[in-house]
Amino acid sequence: MKDPQQMKKTDQGPLWGKTAIVTGASSGIGRSTALALAGDGAAVVVSARRKDRLNVLVDAIVSAGGKALAVAGDAAVPADIDRLLQHAMAWKDGGEKYDIVVVNAGRGLAGGLLNSDAGQWQALYDLNVLGAAHLMRRAGEYMVGRKAGHIVAIGSVVGRHISPFGGVYGATKFAVSALAEGLRREVCGHGVRVSLVMPGIVSTEFQAVAGYNQENFGKNVAQFGTLLEPESIAEGIRWLLAQPPHVNVSEIMIRPTGQSYP
Ligand SMILES: NC(=O)c1ccc[n+]([C@@H]2O[C@H](COP(=O)([O-])OP(=O)(O)OC[C@H]3O[C@@H](n4cnc5c(N)ncnc54)[C@H](OP(=O)(O)O)[C@@H]3O)[C@@H](O)[C@H]2O)c1
Repeated sequence: MKDPQQMKKTDQGPLWGKTAIVTGASSGIGRSTALALAGDGAAVVVSARRKDRLNVLVDAIVSAGGKALAVAGDAAVPADIDRLLQHAMAWKDGGEKYDIVVVNAGRGLAGGLLNSDAGQWQALYDLNVLGAAHLMRRAGEYMVGRKAGHIVAIGSVVGRHISPFGGVYGATKFAVSALAEGLRREVCGHGVRVSLVMPGIVSTEFQAVAGYNQENFGKNVAQFGTLLEPESIAEGIRWLLAQPPHVNVSEIMIRPTGQSYP
């Protein structure tokens, strides 16, 4: 995995005074997003299962002058999600509140309906759909009460255009798209924004975790040229968060230029 991003500190940046929770921050898109938001001045609460990785990230942000808190937990377990939010609410450096939640923790699964490992379907659904739904619900309830806030859900291009190579994973991301738009319609009248970010192919640990290899992935994407780095997605998230409160970018899709499909 190539991930050379370092935190770029912006004094009094556009997210100064805001607290952002980022799940799946031990790697890839989540890690890059946490660094980007901290660089824009946000206090960041980072979560994932690998505490050692979170600690390294927190050290990097704090030593660059930012504010960060690590809360380890499983994003598929409602009690862990509730604990994450409780820690954010109790964090003095974060102002004992949160303004932004990036619902990013997730994983893929190689193969379509016929040849993916059905023994992993439940775990995939529990994390990508039910875990995301629980976090969006709790954050949505809180933000409606505050009449402000921004929830960013990470979907996928395969959550809009299904692929025969990832039918079950794609179905979980179709569900994330539906949850994000359903929530947006529930909360928009209360000053709360919801954005769906749909990445194309990004080089992260995602491919190895999903079980992609040269045969089921490498050969198909070779024609697409340079794939995205996680920073490209973090940049999109930074941009939509920086819009004024009355502007809600409800969805963006970011693909490698050469990705013709899906
Ligand atoms: N890479 C792509 O091509 C691509 C394309 C479209 C969408 N996406 C989506 O982007 C999001 C981030 O993926 P990525 O590419 O950055 O992959 P990644 O590098 O594998 O990162 C996944 C993150 O999710 C965390 N995670 C996984 N299972 C978890 C669990 N049960 N509980 C808590 N945290 C968990 C991982 O941390 P721990 O292992 O430490 O828990 C890690 O921090 C995912 O939702 C993915 O579906 C990725």
